[in-house]
Amino acid sequence: MRKKIVAGNWKMNLDYANGISLFSEIVNMVRDEKKGDQIAIICAPYIHLNSLAQLGGEIVKIGAQNCHQNDSGAFTGEISATMIKSVGCEYVIIGHSERRQYFAEGNELLAQKTIKALENQLTPIFCIGETLEERNNGSYFEVLKAQLAQGIFGLSSADFSKVVIAYEPVWAIGTGLTATSDQAQEVHAYIRKEIEAKYDQEIADACTILYGGSCNPKNASELFAQPDIDGGLIGGASLKSRDFVDIVKAFNS
Ligand code: PGA
Repeated sequence: MRKKIVAGNWKMNLDYANGISLFSEIVNMVRDEKKGDQIAIICAPYIHLNSLAQLGGEIVKIGAQNCHQNDSGAFTGEISATMIKSVGCEYVIIGHSERRQYFAEGNELLAQKTIKALENQLTPIFCIGETLEERNNGSYFEVLKAQLAQGIFGLSSADFSKVVIAYEPVWAIGTGLTATSDQAQEVHAYIRKEIEAKYDQEIADACTILYGGSCNPKNASELFAQPDIDGGLIGGASLKSRDFVDIVKAFNS
């Protein structure tokens, strides 16, 4: 059985005190309310990671939102996967569309970051997704195929099996526009087929594929009930403890 995951992405929000307080609320609620074996993760800004890992790393796992592709060196302002691992993180988001768009991160660079994450025993949450224009002109399968092929299909079977994929249509991120469960399921099934074609059916079946883009407590259950959707990557709604924990609880079984 593949893992079910709900990962919050706080993006560039919350100062230190507010981050600690929101995370503490989330940990308490998850501890008291979660039934089932789904994994809750918070991907926080770097300044929070050390404290959050100490506060609740057993109950709610911790992830970073990015890492550098080198281990160390003269890269002012950057943080390496080694450093992220050293404070108790287990996950790192790679290739979020905001990194692709605002920081010009392309598939080749993201492939290097993914390798670094894996070398440091971090689980990459590798994001792919099409823009509105690509959705409307029908090229989205091609776009997603290239992101997969250039970003993570260079990995060995053993390494690929450690990666979590997040499908996040760019037009649905932070816009309140969610892909319908049919639209999301169509793409998730496509991704799984591509994985099967590149690796094999067993690896494709075992791969956790998350949906992200305006996921909220109202639409999460329908999305998570789709056969190829294994959870969500949650932006805005992860900044509210009640909403985030309700999404963590939105699996049917
Ligand atoms: P959103 O963001 O839930 O606010 O749309 C999702 C994401 O960017 O990961």
